Amino acid sequence: MHTLLTPRSGIRGNLGKTEMQKILVVDDAAVNRELLREMLEDNYVIEMAENGQQALRKLLEFKEELAAVLLDLQMPEMDGFAVIDAMKENGWLEQIPVLVISIESTPEVENRCLEIGVSDFIHKPFDRSIVKNRVRNTIDLFAYKNSLEQQVEEQRETLRQQDRIIRIQAEKLKEAEPFNRLMMEYRFAIMEIETRLKVLNEEFSREYKRNPFESIKSRLKTPESIYEKLERKGHPITVDNIREHLTDVAGLRVICSFPDDIYRLADLVIRQDDILLLRKKDYIQNPKDNGYRSLHLILSVPIFLSNEKKYMKAEVQFRTIAMDFWASLEHKLKYKKNVKNATQIVAQLKACADSIEMLDYQMQDLRNKIDMDGRSI
Ligand code: GTP
Ligand code: MG
Repeated sequence: MHTLLTPRSGIRGNLGKTEMQKILVVDDAAVNRELLREMLEDNYVIEMAENGQQALRKLLEFKEELAAVLLDLQMPEMDGFAVIDAMKENGWLEQIPVLVISIESTPEVENRCLEIGVSDFIHKPFDRSIVKNRVRNTIDLFAYKNSLEQQVEEQRETLRQQDRIIRIQAEKLKEAEPFNRLMMEYRFAIMEIETRLKVLNEEFSREYKRNPFESIKSRLKTPESIYEKLERKGHPITVDNIREHLTDVAGLRVICSFPDDIYRLADLVIRQDDILLLRKKDYIQNPKDNGYRSLHLILSVPIFLSNEKKYMKAEVQFRTIAMDFWASLEHKLKYKKNVKNATQIVAQLKACADSIEMLDYQMQDLRNKIDMDGRSI
Protein backbone atom coordinates (compact mmCIF):
# COMPACT_ATOMS: atom_id res chain seq x y z
CA MET A 1 0.00 0.00 0.00
CA HIS A 2 1.45 3.34 -0.89
CA THR A 3 0.68 6.93 -1.64
CA LEU A 4 -2.21 6.02 -3.87
CA LEU A 5 -4.16 4.74 -0.97
CA THR A 6 -4.14 7.92 1.03
CA PRO A 7 -7.20 10.06 0.45
CA ARG A 8 -6.32 12.37 -2.40
CA SER A 9 -6.52 16.01 -1.56
CA GLY A 10 -7.75 18.73 -3.82
CA ILE A 11 -11.07 17.05 -4.43
CA ARG A 12 -13.01 20.26 -3.92
CA GLY A 13 -10.56 21.95 -6.18
CA ASN A 14 -9.18 25.21 -4.82
CA LEU A 15 -5.63 24.15 -5.48
CA GLY A 16 -3.12 25.49 -7.96
CA LYS A 17 -2.84 23.73 -11.33
CA THR A 18 0.28 21.83 -10.38
CA GLU A 19 -1.36 20.32 -7.29
CA MET A 20 -4.54 19.31 -9.07
CA GLN A 21 -5.33 15.65 -9.48
CA LYS A 22 -5.01 13.99 -12.85
CA ILE A 23 -7.78 12.32 -14.80
CA LEU A 24 -7.37 10.21 -17.90
CA VAL A 25 -10.13 10.56 -20.51
CA VAL A 26 -10.18 7.71 -23.02
CA ASP A 27 -12.51 8.04 -26.00
CA ASP A 28 -12.02 7.61 -29.73
CA ALA A 29 -14.37 10.50 -30.47
CA ALA A 30 -12.50 13.79 -30.22
CA VAL A 31 -15.70 15.67 -29.52
CA ASN A 32 -16.36 13.63 -26.39
CA ARG A 33 -12.82 14.07 -25.15
CA GLU A 34 -13.03 17.81 -25.65
CA LEU A 35 -16.42 18.09 -24.00
CA LEU A 36 -15.24 16.22 -20.92
CA ARG A 37 -12.02 18.16 -20.79
CA GLU A 38 -13.89 21.42 -20.90
CA MET A 39 -16.20 20.30 -18.08
CA LEU A 40 -13.48 19.02 -15.79
CA GLU A 41 -10.37 21.07 -16.45
CA ASP A 42 -11.16 23.64 -13.76
CA ASN A 43 -10.70 20.98 -11.13
CA TYR A 44 -8.40 18.40 -12.66
CA VAL A 45 -5.44 18.09 -14.98
CA ILE A 46 -6.76 16.16 -17.97
CA GLU A 47 -4.77 13.54 -19.84
CA MET A 48 -6.33 12.11 -22.97
CA ALA A 49 -6.10 8.95 -25.02
CA GLU A 50 -7.99 8.02 -28.18
CA ASN A 51 -7.74 4.26 -27.97
CA GLY A 52 -7.00 1.43 -25.58
CA GLN A 53 -3.31 1.12 -26.41
CA GLN A 54 -2.69 4.79 -25.80
CA ALA A 55 -4.68 4.58 -22.60
CA LEU A 56 -2.44 1.83 -21.25
CA ARG A 57 0.68 3.78 -22.12
CA LYS A 58 -0.68 6.81 -20.26
CA LEU A 59 -1.66 4.60 -17.35
CA LEU A 60 1.83 3.20 -17.14
CA GLU A 61 3.29 6.68 -17.20
CA PHE A 62 0.86 8.39 -14.78
CA LYS A 63 -0.55 5.57 -12.67
CA GLU A 64 0.80 7.06 -9.46
CA GLU A 65 -0.91 10.38 -10.11
CA LEU A 66 -4.22 9.38 -11.67
CA ALA A 67 -7.33 9.96 -9.58
CA ALA A 68 -9.72 8.39 -12.10
CA VAL A 69 -10.08 7.03 -15.63
CA LEU A 70 -13.06 7.97 -17.79
CA LEU A 71 -13.31 5.20 -20.32
CA ASP A 72 -15.29 4.68 -23.52
CA LEU A 73 -16.17 1.05 -24.20
CA GLN A 74 -16.35 1.00 -27.98
CA MET A 75 -13.07 1.95 -29.53
CA PRO A 76 -11.10 0.59 -32.47
CA GLU A 77 -8.03 -1.64 -31.92
CA MET A 78 -8.43 -2.16 -28.21
CA ASP A 79 -11.80 -1.56 -26.58
CA GLY A 80 -12.67 -0.45 -23.07
CA PHE A 81 -13.17 -3.97 -21.74
CA ALA A 82 -9.65 -4.92 -22.81
CA VAL A 83 -8.32 -1.82 -21.02
CA ILE A 84 -10.15 -2.83 -17.84
CA ASP A 85 -8.77 -6.37 -18.14
CA ALA A 86 -5.25 -5.03 -18.47
CA MET A 87 -5.77 -2.69 -15.52
CA LYS A 88 -6.97 -5.60 -13.46
CA GLU A 89 -3.98 -7.73 -14.50
CA ASN A 90 -1.62 -4.99 -13.36
CA GLY A 91 -3.45 -4.36 -10.08
CA TRP A 92 -4.34 -0.81 -11.11
CA LEU A 93 -8.08 -1.30 -10.83
CA GLU A 94 -7.75 -1.42 -7.05
CA GLN A 95 -5.91 1.88 -7.12
CA ILE A 96 -7.72 3.93 -9.75
CA PRO A 97 -11.49 4.10 -10.16
CA VAL A 98 -12.88 3.69 -13.67
CA LEU A 99 -16.00 5.50 -14.86
CA VAL A 100 -17.41 4.19 -18.11
CA ILE A 101 -18.56 6.67 -20.72
CA SER A 102 -21.60 5.13 -22.34
CA ILE A 103 -23.82 6.19 -25.18
CA GLU A 104 -26.71 3.82 -24.87
CA SER A 105 -25.78 1.17 -22.42
CA THR A 106 -28.08 -1.75 -21.72
CA PRO A 107 -28.55 -3.16 -18.22
CA GLU A 108 -26.55 -6.22 -19.40
CA VAL A 109 -23.57 -4.08 -20.37
CA GLU A 110 -23.77 -2.05 -17.16
CA ASN A 111 -23.99 -5.21 -15.12
CA ARG A 112 -20.97 -6.70 -16.84
CA CYS A 113 -19.06 -3.47 -16.18
CA LEU A 114 -19.95 -3.45 -12.49
CA GLU A 115 -19.01 -7.09 -12.17
CA ILE A 116 -15.53 -6.51 -13.56
CA GLY A 117 -14.93 -3.61 -11.20
CA VAL A 118 -16.11 -0.42 -12.90
CA SER A 119 -17.01 2.22 -10.31
CA ASP A 120 -19.65 4.28 -12.13
CA PHE A 121 -21.06 5.48 -15.47
CA ILE A 122 -21.22 8.77 -17.27
CA HIS A 123 -24.08 8.81 -19.74
CA LYS A 124 -24.28 10.79 -22.92
CA PRO A 125 -25.36 13.42 -23.64
CA PHE A 126 -23.09 14.80 -20.94
CA ASP A 127 -24.61 17.03 -18.33
CA ARG A 128 -21.97 19.29 -16.83
CA SER A 129 -23.15 19.11 -13.26
CA ILE A 130 -23.77 15.34 -13.30
CA VAL A 131 -20.37 14.68 -14.83
CA LYS A 132 -18.61 16.85 -12.24
CA ASN A 133 -20.50 15.32 -9.35
CA ARG A 134 -20.11 11.73 -10.47
CA VAL A 135 -16.39 12.12 -10.99
CA ARG A 136 -15.91 13.86 -7.68
CA ASN A 137 -18.06 11.40 -5.73
CA THR A 138 -16.33 8.42 -7.26
CA ILE A 139 -12.90 9.80 -6.44
CA ASP A 140 -13.96 10.66 -2.89
CA LEU A 141 -15.53 7.28 -2.29
CA PHE A 142 -12.58 5.42 -3.72
CA ALA A 143 -10.12 7.38 -1.61
CA TYR A 144 -12.23 6.73 1.47
CA LYS A 145 -12.45 3.00 0.77
CA ASN A 146 -8.72 2.82 0.17
CA SER A 147 -7.90 4.75 3.31
CA LEU A 148 -10.07 2.34 5.29
CA GLU A 149 -8.30 -0.61 3.69
CA GLN A 150 -5.00 0.97 4.57
CA GLN A 151 -6.07 1.43 8.18
CA VAL A 152 -7.14 -2.19 8.36
CA GLU A 153 -3.84 -3.30 6.86
CA GLU A 154 -1.91 -1.11 9.33
CA GLN A 155 -3.84 -2.58 12.23
CA ARG A 156 -3.16 -6.08 10.94
CA GLU A 157 0.53 -5.29 10.72
CA THR A 158 0.54 -3.93 14.30
CA LEU A 159 -1.13 -7.12 15.49
CA ARG A 160 1.37 -9.23 13.56
CA GLN A 161 4.21 -7.30 15.18
CA GLN A 162 2.73 -7.66 18.66
CA ASP A 163 2.31 -11.34 18.04
CA ARG A 164 5.95 -11.61 16.93
CA ILE A 165 7.14 -9.75 20.02
CA ILE A 166 5.07 -11.96 22.28
CA ARG A 167 6.51 -15.06 20.65
CA ILE A 168 10.07 -13.79 20.96
CA GLN A 169 9.58 -12.85 24.60
CA ALA A 170 7.92 -16.18 25.27
CA GLU A 171 10.91 -17.98 23.74
CA LYS A 172 13.19 -15.97 26.01
CA LEU A 173 11.05 -16.87 28.99
CA LYS A 174 11.36 -20.54 28.15
CA GLU A 175 15.13 -20.29 28.26
CA ALA A 176 15.19 -18.53 31.60
CA GLU A 177 16.07 -20.87 34.44
CA PRO A 178 13.95 -19.17 37.14
CA PHE A 179 10.98 -19.34 34.79
CA ASN A 180 11.46 -23.03 34.16
CA ARG A 181 11.78 -23.65 37.87
CA LEU A 182 8.55 -21.73 38.49
CA MET A 183 6.75 -23.78 35.85
CA MET A 184 7.98 -26.93 37.54
CA GLU A 185 6.50 -25.72 40.82
CA TYR A 186 3.15 -25.04 39.13
CA ARG A 187 3.27 -28.56 37.71
CA PHE A 188 3.76 -29.87 41.25
CA ALA A 189 0.73 -27.85 42.35
CA ILE A 190 -1.36 -29.50 39.66
CA MET A 191 -0.09 -32.92 40.75
CA GLU A 192 -0.87 -32.12 44.36
CA ILE A 193 -4.47 -31.12 43.68
CA GLU A 194 -4.99 -33.97 41.26
CA THR A 195 -3.83 -36.46 43.86
CA ARG A 196 -6.12 -35.07 46.52
CA LEU A 197 -9.09 -35.22 44.14
CA LYS A 198 -8.28 -38.77 43.10
CA VAL A 199 -8.01 -39.83 46.73
CA LEU A 200 -11.49 -38.42 47.39
CA ASN A 201 -12.85 -40.11 44.30
CA GLU A 202 -11.50 -43.51 45.25
CA GLU A 203 -12.67 -43.23 48.82
CA PHE A 204 -16.15 -42.23 47.67
CA SER A 205 -16.27 -45.00 45.17
CA ARG A 206 -15.49 -47.52 47.93
CA GLU A 207 -17.66 -46.09 50.65
CA TYR A 208 -20.66 -44.86 48.70
CA LYS A 209 -20.39 -46.76 45.42
CA ARG A 210 -20.22 -43.67 43.34
CA ASN A 211 -17.69 -41.33 41.79
CA PRO A 212 -18.03 -37.63 42.48
CA PHE A 213 -16.24 -36.78 39.29
CA GLU A 214 -15.90 -38.28 35.83
CA SER A 215 -12.53 -36.90 34.79
CA ILE A 216 -9.88 -34.26 35.47
CA LYS A 217 -8.12 -32.23 32.83
CA SER A 218 -5.16 -30.07 33.66
CA ARG A 219 -2.99 -27.61 31.83
CA LEU A 220 -0.07 -25.33 32.47
CA LYS A 221 -0.53 -21.88 30.99
CA THR A 222 1.72 -21.41 27.95
CA PRO A 223 4.54 -18.83 28.07
CA GLU A 224 2.76 -16.91 25.26
CA SER A 225 -0.43 -16.73 27.24
CA ILE A 226 1.40 -15.83 30.48
CA TYR A 227 3.19 -13.05 28.69
CA GLU A 228 0.03 -11.77 27.04
CA LYS A 229 -1.95 -11.73 30.29
CA LEU A 230 0.71 -9.95 32.34
CA GLU A 231 1.14 -7.42 29.57
CA ARG A 232 -2.63 -6.88 29.46
CA LYS A 233 -2.67 -6.31 33.22
CA GLY A 234 0.19 -3.84 32.86
CA HIS A 235 2.88 -5.74 34.75
CA PRO A 236 6.45 -6.33 33.58
CA ILE A 237 7.28 -9.94 32.81
CA THR A 238 9.06 -11.25 35.87
CA VAL A 239 8.85 -14.46 37.83
CA ASP A 240 7.64 -12.48 40.87
CA ASN A 241 4.85 -10.86 38.87
CA ILE A 242 3.72 -14.21 37.49
CA ARG A 243 3.51 -15.52 41.05
CA GLU A 244 1.78 -12.46 42.37
CA HIS A 245 -0.64 -11.46 39.63
CA LEU A 246 -1.59 -14.64 37.82
CA THR A 247 -3.87 -17.16 39.46
CA ASP A 248 -4.42 -19.53 36.56
CA VAL A 249 -0.92 -20.68 35.54
CA ALA A 250 -1.82 -24.03 37.08
CA GLY A 251 -5.29 -24.89 35.83
CA LEU A 252 -7.48 -27.90 36.53
CA ARG A 253 -10.91 -28.77 35.24
CA VAL A 254 -12.94 -31.29 37.16
CA ILE A 255 -15.85 -32.78 35.23
CA CYS A 256 -18.66 -34.09 37.39
CA SER A 257 -21.84 -35.93 36.44
CA PHE A 258 -24.25 -33.92 38.59
CA PRO A 259 -24.38 -30.37 39.96
CA ASP A 260 -24.52 -31.47 43.62
CA ASP A 261 -21.28 -33.44 43.16
CA ILE A 262 -19.61 -30.19 42.21
CA TYR A 263 -20.44 -28.51 45.49
CA ARG A 264 -19.75 -31.60 47.59
CA LEU A 265 -16.35 -32.10 46.02
CA ALA A 266 -15.41 -28.41 46.07
CA ASP A 267 -16.33 -28.28 49.72
CA LEU A 268 -14.20 -31.31 50.56
CA VAL A 269 -11.21 -29.73 48.82
CA ILE A 270 -11.62 -26.37 50.49
CA ARG A 271 -11.94 -28.02 53.91
CA GLN A 272 -8.55 -29.69 53.68
CA ASP A 273 -6.61 -27.89 56.38
CA ASP A 274 -3.56 -26.89 54.35
CA ILE A 275 -5.48 -25.62 51.35
CA LEU A 276 -6.42 -21.96 51.28
CA LEU A 277 -9.36 -20.67 49.28
CA LEU A 278 -8.33 -17.33 47.76
CA ARG A 279 -11.41 -16.75 45.67
CA LYS A 280 -14.60 -18.49 44.66
CA LYS A 281 -16.51 -17.55 41.49
CA ASP A 282 -19.81 -19.34 41.35
CA TYR A 283 -20.97 -19.07 37.75
CA ILE A 284 -23.50 -21.84 38.44
CA GLN A 285 -25.48 -19.75 40.90
CA ASN A 286 -24.70 -16.64 38.87
CA PRO A 287 -24.19 -17.65 35.24
CA LYS A 288 -22.46 -15.25 32.86
CA ASP A 289 -24.71 -13.39 30.41
CA ASN A 290 -23.67 -15.72 27.60
CA GLY A 291 -24.87 -18.72 29.63
CA TYR A 292 -21.46 -19.88 30.91
CA ARG A 293 -21.78 -21.99 34.05
CA SER A 294 -19.01 -23.47 36.21
CA LEU A 295 -17.69 -23.17 39.72
CA HIS A 296 -14.22 -21.64 39.88
CA LEU A 297 -11.97 -21.89 42.90
CA ILE A 298 -8.71 -20.04 43.15
CA LEU A 299 -6.67 -22.02 45.63
CA SER A 300 -3.35 -21.73 47.33
CA VAL A 301 -1.88 -25.21 47.75
CA PRO A 302 1.33 -26.37 49.40
CA ILE A 303 3.99 -28.23 47.47
CA PHE A 304 6.72 -30.03 49.34
CA LEU A 305 10.22 -29.58 47.96
CA SER A 306 13.48 -31.05 49.24
CA ASN A 307 14.18 -28.15 51.55
CA GLU A 308 11.05 -26.10 51.70
CA LYS A 309 7.29 -26.00 51.57
CA LYS A 310 5.87 -23.50 49.14
CA TYR A 311 2.35 -22.27 48.46
CA MET A 312 1.26 -22.11 44.83
CA LYS A 313 -1.86 -20.62 43.27
CA ALA A 314 -4.09 -22.72 41.08
CA GLU A 315 -7.45 -22.34 39.39
CA VAL A 316 -9.84 -25.27 39.62
CA GLN A 317 -12.97 -25.21 37.48
CA PHE A 318 -15.78 -27.59 38.37
CA ARG A 319 -18.40 -28.35 35.72
CA THR A 320 -20.90 -31.00 34.82
CA ILE A 321 -20.35 -33.01 31.64
CA ALA A 322 -23.10 -30.99 29.99
CA MET A 323 -21.64 -27.64 31.07
CA ASP A 324 -18.27 -28.75 29.73
CA PHE A 325 -19.81 -29.78 26.43
CA TRP A 326 -21.36 -26.32 26.16
CA ALA A 327 -18.21 -24.43 27.20
CA SER A 328 -16.04 -26.19 24.62
CA LEU A 329 -18.32 -25.17 21.79
CA GLU A 330 -18.74 -21.64 23.09
CA HIS A 331 -14.96 -21.33 23.44
CA LYS A 332 -14.61 -22.16 19.75
CA LEU A 333 -16.93 -19.31 18.83
CA LYS A 334 -14.98 -16.89 21.01
CA TYR A 335 -11.69 -17.57 19.33
CA LYS A 336 -12.95 -17.78 15.77
CA LYS A 337 -13.02 -14.66 13.69
CA ASN A 338 -15.65 -13.77 11.12
CA VAL A 339 -18.19 -16.37 12.17
CA LYS A 340 -21.31 -15.86 10.08
CA ASN A 341 -24.54 -15.14 12.03
CA ALA A 342 -22.53 -14.76 15.24
CA THR A 343 -25.35 -12.85 17.00
CA GLN A 344 -27.79 -15.62 16.21
CA ILE A 345 -25.34 -18.27 17.39
CA VAL A 346 -24.78 -16.39 20.66
CA ALA A 347 -28.56 -16.39 21.25
CA GLN A 348 -28.81 -20.07 20.39
CA LEU A 349 -25.90 -20.91 22.71
CA LYS A 350 -27.67 -19.08 25.51
CA ALA A 351 -30.81 -21.13 24.83
CA CYS A 352 -28.71 -24.32 24.91
CA ALA A 353 -27.18 -23.24 28.24
CA ASP A 354 -30.68 -22.87 29.66
CA SER A 355 -31.70 -26.32 28.38
CA ILE A 356 -28.51 -27.80 29.79
CA GLU A 357 -29.25 -26.32 33.19
CA MET A 358 -32.67 -27.96 33.17
CA LEU A 359 -31.23 -31.22 31.94
CA ASP A 360 -28.56 -31.25 34.66
CA TYR A 361 -31.15 -30.95 37.41
CA GLN A 362 -33.55 -33.42 35.79
CA MET A 363 -30.75 -35.98 35.61
CA GLN A 364 -29.87 -35.26 39.23
CA ASP A 365 -33.51 -35.85 40.26
CA LEU A 366 -33.57 -39.09 38.33
CA ARG A 367 -30.36 -40.23 39.98
CA ASN A 368 -31.86 -39.46 43.39
CA LYS A 369 -34.95 -41.50 42.57
CA ILE A 370 -32.87 -44.41 41.29
CA ASP A 371 -30.68 -44.26 44.40
CA MET A 372 -33.73 -44.28 46.70
CA ASP A 373 -35.31 -47.24 44.89
CA GLY A 374 -32.00 -49.07 44.90
CA ARG A 375 -31.88 -48.83 48.69
CA SER A 376 -35.38 -50.28 49.19
CA ILE A 377 -34.67 -53.52 47.32
P1 GTP B 1 -9.44 -15.02 32.11
O1 GTP B 1 -8.63 -13.80 31.86
O2 GTP B 1 -10.02 -15.61 30.84
O3 GTP B 1 -8.72 -16.05 32.91
O4 GTP B 1 -10.73 -14.54 32.91
P2 GTP B 1 -10.86 -14.04 34.43
O5 GTP B 1 -9.52 -13.97 35.06
O6 GTP B 1 -11.74 -12.84 34.45
O7 GTP B 1 -11.63 -15.24 35.14
P3 GTP B 1 -12.95 -15.99 34.75
O8 GTP B 1 -13.38 -16.73 35.98
O9 GTP B 1 -13.97 -15.14 34.11
O10 GTP B 1 -12.45 -17.03 33.66
C1 GTP B 1 -11.47 -17.99 33.94
C2 GTP B 1 -11.55 -19.10 32.91
O11 GTP B 1 -12.85 -19.65 32.88
C3 GTP B 1 -11.33 -18.69 31.49
O12 GTP B 1 -9.97 -18.63 31.17
C4 GTP B 1 -12.05 -19.81 30.74
O13 GTP B 1 -11.28 -21.01 30.77
C5 GTP B 1 -13.25 -20.02 31.60
N1 GTP B 1 -14.34 -19.16 31.18
C6 GTP B 1 -14.77 -18.03 31.78
N2 GTP B 1 -15.79 -17.47 31.12
C7 GTP B 1 -16.04 -18.27 30.06
C8 GTP B 1 -16.99 -18.22 28.99
O14 GTP B 1 -17.81 -17.33 28.88
N3 GTP B 1 -16.94 -19.25 28.08
C9 GTP B 1 -16.05 -20.26 28.17
N4 GTP B 1 -16.09 -21.22 27.23
N5 GTP B 1 -15.14 -20.32 29.15
C10 GTP B 1 -15.12 -19.34 30.09
MG1 MG C 1 -7.77 -17.83 32.71
